[in-house]
Amino acid sequence: MKKDLLKLLDLTPEDIKLILDTSDKLKAEKKAGKKHDFPAGKTLAMIFAKNSTRTRVSFEVGMTHLDGHAIFMTTSDSQMKRGEAIADTARTLSRYVDCIMIRTFDQDEVEELAAHSTIPVINGLTDFAHPCQILADLMTIREHKGKLEGLKVCWMGDGNNVANSLIVGCLKSGMDISVACPEGYEPDQEVLDFAATAKDCKFELVTDPKVAAKDADVIFTDVWASMGQEGEAKAREKAFEGYQVNDEIMALAKPDAMVQHCLPAHKGEEISEKVFEEHAQEIFDEAENRLHVQKGIMYLLMK
Ligand code: CP
Ligand code: NVA
Repeated sequence: MKKDLLKLLDLTPEDIKLILDTSDKLKAEKKAGKKHDFPAGKTLAMIFAKNSTRTRVSFEVGMTHLDGHAIFMTTSDSQMKRGEAIADTARTLSRYVDCIMIRTFDQDEVEELAAHSTIPVINGLTDFAHPCQILADLMTIREHKGKLEGLKVCWMGDGNNVANSLIVGCLKSGMDISVACPEGYEPDQEVLDFAATAKDCKFELVTDPKVAAKDADVIFTDVWASMGQEGEAKAREKAFEGYQVNDEIMALAKPDAMVQHCLPAHKGEEISEKVFEEHAQEIFDEAENRLHVQKGIMYLLMK
């Protein structure tokens, strides 16, 4: 494993498997009431430039389970707001804490923070990627289906941060992925370039949601307007008409298809209330697994 977890493009298939196996082990230990084999007293700094429920709470609880401590910071109430250089924030925090998790806009900021930190840096979401989310999703699919290799995943909607990471995570885990986005809302070119190199797995980018959903084992979606895109919400609602995960779409997928949503959801937009509630068990297993995966990542990076 590298020092940092910045994007799934940086991980090998073996790294991904190691994180999933470690997270499974920590989850089983926790459920059995066993103590984790991890040195006590580590500290995580969590920096947020965007809102969060799952990421903040799962990292913080994860540190409690690992007998450590997490510090919640926002860019707006730290000196970052007043323009302190990222490199200086990195060099300062490296003298105090054992790991940094950051949620922000620009992927370059996270890369810069990591380049100037002597401690591991974890990407807790940028406009480009959401690696921790997809690791939790892979963990959830593997728990439900018993395997990843050979499954077909469908992504429906915006080619956003979650879609970017999902494409990379699936193709590095032996899964086929079919992505349906309206024109102009495709995943990032860097991800499409990576997908074009996939040899053993099938990648498909289409505009027709019905094509993407056909015979899928797992259907994924996410909000149509991500954090930072609130001003585009109306235009996006129009562009994404017909991209709702609903009964019609589910009828095209395999009869035992799972549904995954990173949350928060806008029910009635990207997913119908009915499909959401019918698949709530899987969706909240996914939310729970954020905790176990966060712990797996921190265990491997900080141990
Ligand atoms: N899925 C996810 O990252 O949720 P939060 O925005 O609540 O952290
Ligand atoms: N794509 C969403 C994911 C939130 C967890 C966003 O970036 O707002």
